[in-house]
Amino acid sequence: MMNAEIAARWRPEWLLDDDVRYLNHGSFGPSPRCVIEATEHWTRELERQPMHFYLRRMEELLDQASERLARFLGVGREGLIFSDNATTAMNVVASSLNLDADDEILVNDHEYGAVTRLWRRYVQPSKAHVVTVDLPDPLTDDDAVVEAIMSKVTHLTRLIVVSHVTSPTAVILPIAEICRRARQLNVPVCIDGPHAIAMLPVDLKRIDCDFYAASCHKWLCGPFGSGFLYVHPQQRKRVQPTVVSWGGSIGGYQPSWKDEFNWIGTRNPASFLGVTAAIDFLQQPARVLTSSGSALEEYRQHARSLLDFAEQRITAVTNLPPFADRAHWCGSMAAFHLPRVAEPPKFGERDPVQNALWDQHRIEIPIVHWRSQRFVRVSSHLYNSPAEIEALADALRQLL
Ligand SMILES: Cc1ncc(COP(=O)(O)O)c(C=O)c1O
Repeated sequence: MMNAEIAARWRPEWLLDDDVRYLNHGSFGPSPRCVIEATEHWTRELERQPMHFYLRRMEELLDQASERLARFLGVGREGLIFSDNATTAMNVVASSLNLDADDEILVNDHEYGAVTRLWRRYVQPSKAHVVTVDLPDPLTDDDAVVEAIMSKVTHLTRLIVVSHVTSPTAVILPIAEICRRARQLNVPVCIDGPHAIAMLPVDLKRIDCDFYAASCHKWLCGPFGSGFLYVHPQQRKRVQPTVVSWGGSIGGYQPSWKDEFNWIGTRNPASFLGVTAAIDFLQQPARVLTSSGSALEEYRQHARSLLDFAEQRITAVTNLPPFADRAHWCGSMAAFHLPRVAEPPKFGERDPVQNALWDQHRIEIPIVHWRSQRFVRVSSHLYNSPAEIEALADALRQLL
């Protein structure tokens, strides 16, 4: 089977323990060796002569790294700042809005829990509100999603927050159309995009959002602690850092809106500089599906076909369908229904099946509770194999 060959060719690039079946790249995506080496290289460069590194080299290096990432995302580097992760980037957006009483932040019921929570926290002082739209369930088509969101926009809506690829349900939302409609109404949109980077071809110019917050340590396989915030030219004057420091270029460069974010006190920028190595890694030639061109394309094709296999095997065990029609809604991650339970686990606890999958089968995978539904969310990257999917299906048969 082609998928087995692809996994065998790529897995040695990762440090993953031999006995682990890691089917959760979507939560925490490990980096290949070359990315870890690049990050270590930049840490050593810093340690060799910190004054020289911070004052004379760092800003130029950050410019080069953001140039590369921005190009990968279809924009110029002047719109992009590095952040530790999507959460930090989203906090920057939240701290930049001057909300008034009754203003509304529009989210939907597929958003990541911490993102909804941070918005609830940020609206409190001004007595603004978070308004949550329930998207159609089952999902039928993109227009229904767009309509559900846009129908809740009012004259009080200050921002629409929407995931590019959702966390609990693993579906791709029609964000470009939401941005287009919102722009007609002059309502800014912030995309929560950590799952989309590398999973999908993300073209920020075409999407034309106001803000795009993402992590590079998921599907792009960047170093842990690498993410970014893209800010549309119209919004750049408005953004405020969550951590206030000097606010100017410490290397004496021309002032830029990015200065507030490049220096937020002393820290190691190695994970940001390591993002370039992750892009290089995915842009190297494919190893098995050579007609597909790059490793990036190989990953996307491999993931889809491995998820076809997962769908076959898991639905044969559960007799339940995937959450959504994968051909339309999913990339390299998919949620498959599991039988419901009366009591979902509390925050910080895990579903007993998730615990048993790890304890008894060395399978690392999330079991997600959403509304009253329960899913197993399968992630697939270059190193994942059909044998891991077989093991998952066999284990579910035993445990359910
Ligand atoms: C949709 C979505 N938004 C935001 C986040 C937060 O990402 P991070 O922990 O990298 O900040 C996640 C994490 O899984 C996510 O799935």
